[in-house]
Amino acid sequence: MRKKIVAGNWKMNLNLQEGVALATELKAALAADKPNCDVVICTPFIHLATVADVVKNTVIGLGAENCADKEKGAYTGEVSAAQVKSTGAQYVILGHSERRAYYGETAEILKEKVNLALANGLKVIFCIGEVLEEREAGKQNEVVGAQLADSLFDLTDEQFANIILAYEPVWAIGTGKTATAEQAQDMHAFIRGCIAGRFGDAAENVSILYGGSCKPSNAKDIFSKPDVDGGLIGGAALKCEDFKGIIDAWK
Ligand code: 13P
Repeated sequence: MRKKIVAGNWKMNLNLQEGVALATELKAALAADKPNCDVVICTPFIHLATVADVVKNTVIGLGAENCADKEKGAYTGEVSAAQVKSTGAQYVILGHSERRAYYGETAEILKEKVNLALANGLKVIFCIGEVLEEREAGKQNEVVGAQLADSLFDLTDEQFANIILAYEPVWAIGTGKTATAEQAQDMHAFIRGCIAGRFGDAAENVSILYGGSCKPSNAKDIFSKPDVDGGLIGGAALKCEDFKGIIDAWK
């Protein structure tokens, strides 16, 4: 049985004190009302070690939003997978469309990052998704299929077992414009088919999350689809009440 997951991506929001306050509030909310899914928060690097202490021995998992494509050394300003792991984090988001678009992360770079993250014992939340022009041209499957193949298809079965996928149509991120539950299901089924073609039965076990303007008001509808295993949440992960509302969509 594959895992249901609701993961938050804080992006470049909240200072350290605000981040600790949000994690503390979420911890209390989930202690009072246990979730029916795995819950993960992915925070800026500087929050990780402190938030790791807050969420220790709770149901809340912790992840980074990125890691370096180099193991260690003279790469000023970068943070390695080993450094992420040493904070107590268990996850890392890789391949987010904002990293691809604004920081030039190519399939090759992402392959390096995925390998390093897995080698350091992190689970990878790997993001894929098409931009609006690609969807309007009916090319979304082609684009997403290539993103999967170009960065993940050289992994071994053992490595792939630590991958979580997140389908995030770029046109739905932070725009308030969500994919319909049907659009999400169609793409998730396509993704699962691609994974089955390369990794066989592992396709049934890989969690595929939807991301893009997910809110308490639409999460239940989207999560009700058979190939949607949860969400990767941006804006709505910054308020405990909203994030908890999405987690509760699994109830
Ligand atoms: P929003 O939920 O703000 O649209 O962001 C989605 C996202 O990019 C999560 O990684």
